[in-house]
Amino acid sequence: MELVEAIKTRRSIRQFKPDPVPEELIKEVIETALWAPSGMNTQPWKVIVVSGEKRNEFNATIQKAVNHINERLKRLFPEKMQKRIHGYFKDLGGAPHIIVVVVAKNDNIKQQETEIQAGSALMQNLCLVAHDKGLGTCWMSAPLWIEDEVMDFLGMKNEWKLVAVTPLGYPDQNPPVPPRKGDPIIWIK
Ligand SMILES: Cc1cc2nc3c(=O)[nH]c(=O)nc-3n(C[C@H](O)[C@H](O)[C@H](O)COP(=O)(O)O)c2cc1C
Repeated sequence: MELVEAIKTRRSIRQFKPDPVPEELIKEVIETALWAPSGMNTQPWKVIVVSGEKRNEFNATIQKAVNHINERLKRLFPEKMQKRIHGYFKDLGGAPHIIVVVVAKNDNIKQQETEIQAGSALMQNLCLVAHDKGLGTCWMSAPLWIEDEVMDFLGMKNEWKLVAVTPLGYPDQNPPVPPRKGDPIIWIK
């Protein structure tokens, strides 16, 4: 798929087929995503793939994050949509795998911001490459609300910081295209 087409047609997928993705394909997606840029080429990241029994346990942890975004959901969405979002968190759309991007913890806030930017570049690459391979993802920051629990589950609480989580699997939906906002470009000449 051509890059511009991949960027424009990638969607957040919230409904998946149950079929597991072959490990070789997951590896290929991640290894390509790892070509993301990073500050001073530090490559400060790890990518964790959670599958099988552990996937269900991990989902049960992530599900708790929805309680922290409830107030915002109520403000932004009608009741039907709120229910749908709760349902999504419950099972992550049935995705067979959950992928987590983390970066090295850093007491220096500016360096930590740089590392999070690198982790985010990696996550965007991952979403695009997965899309190119016919796989679906949904970048999720909501688990940040329960970061300690998430990192505890992974056994990585002390040295690693959570960037984002995504389910991974074969899409079982073709979501509508959410509109993009007007013109955020500011030209300074
Ligand atoms: C930083 C970031 C955080 C997000 N967090 C969540 C999330 O916690 N839960 C969720 O369902 N979607 C989440 N999304 C997906 C957005 O809702 C989605 O990208 C947006 O609605 C545009 O839709 P599209 O990705 O299909 O173009 C997140 C996306 C980004 C980039």
